[in-house]
Amino acid sequence: MSQYPALRWLGDGLELLDQRLLPHDIRYLRLETADQVAQAIRDMVVRGAPAIGIAAAYGVALAARRRKPAEVSAQAWLEVLEPDLDCLAQSRPTAVNLFWALQRVRDEIALSADDIPARLERLAMELHQRDIEDNRRMGRFGAAFFTDEVSIYTHCNAGALATGGYGTALGVIRAAHEQGLLGQVYAGETRPWLQGSRLTSWELQQDAIPVCLATEAAAGSLMQQGLVDWVIVGADRVASNGDVANKIGTYNLAVLARYHGVRFMVALPTSTIDMDAADGQAIPIEQRAPEEVTHFAGVPVAPDGVRAVNPAFDVTPAELVDVIVTEKGVVEKPGPAGIARLMAASA
Ligand code: MRU
Repeated sequence: MSQYPALRWLGDGLELLDQRLLPHDIRYLRLETADQVAQAIRDMVVRGAPAIGIAAAYGVALAARRRKPAEVSAQAWLEVLEPDLDCLAQSRPTAVNLFWALQRVRDEIALSADDIPARLERLAMELHQRDIEDNRRMGRFGAAFFTDEVSIYTHCNAGALATGGYGTALGVIRAAHEQGLLGQVYAGETRPWLQGSRLTSWELQQDAIPVCLATEAAAGSLMQQGLVDWVIVGADRVASNGDVANKIGTYNLAVLARYHGVRFMVALPTSTIDMDAADGQAIPIEQRAPEEVTHFAGVPVAPDGVRAVNPAFDVTPAELVDVIVTEKGVVEKPGPAGIARLMAASA
């Protein structure tokens, strides 16, 4: 486990590793209200679908310590916490883990009015711990696809920093490394936030996992030279037909991988699967500020006044995905039937 977890629960506060400052500055921010947690999610202090969901659950636990319902009933608790739930739900739109975690909180409150602050704290801690265990399971399921030493290309950061710990795509990579099956990891730098260079390469270096940084534009050439066996990525939301929303640029990689006969794996907890989304078209894609493209670390890198488009995610059609790996098992050549079977299975 990393010595610098993305989230640290203190009982009366939540500490988040400020991922905007990595890798050169390691600093934790202490948060005490749901509003502060929502702002931290919006500003990318904490990011990555599972980590966002866990942070939101802690955010409601913090709110419950401060709120007093008009009467002691589950309904009154729901009403008094509604502004906090709503503010957290507005923070980022694409990662469905956020909405999944908030629904788990609502379900917990609805059970009874007893001890709500303590129960919401316990729930957030459970979601956090469970996420780490799920990542380890999916790591083993994913690594079972490798019979020989593999070379892997990954995108963005789907590691310990993006989850409760261990990671989804990087969980598979860690498991392969633990089993002596990992040759090389290529980390795509991932413009504009550089999660690949700032976070993934740092995270893998910490664990002495062989990582080589590449510009996005190098991916096709690396595959053409036969240097990549698998592309492995995480996901922010998977539709019920297996379409995958993930960091912008994932779709490019899937197209390149198919052309070059490179296999394409997506690793995610089942809390990332949105059975209400019929396909990728139904997934809301976050559009972020154009300044993230026209500027770099606050410095303009484009002509003044130029227009820029900045979608944070794209959708990879299920037909380009070879395998979806989750804590409940795997789905090869994903489609509606395979996803439905997976969701019906118990963990
Ligand atoms: O904008 P980000 O950094 O939150 O985007 C993160 C990703 O796209 C990750 O690949 C995804 O959340 C999976 S994290 C296990």
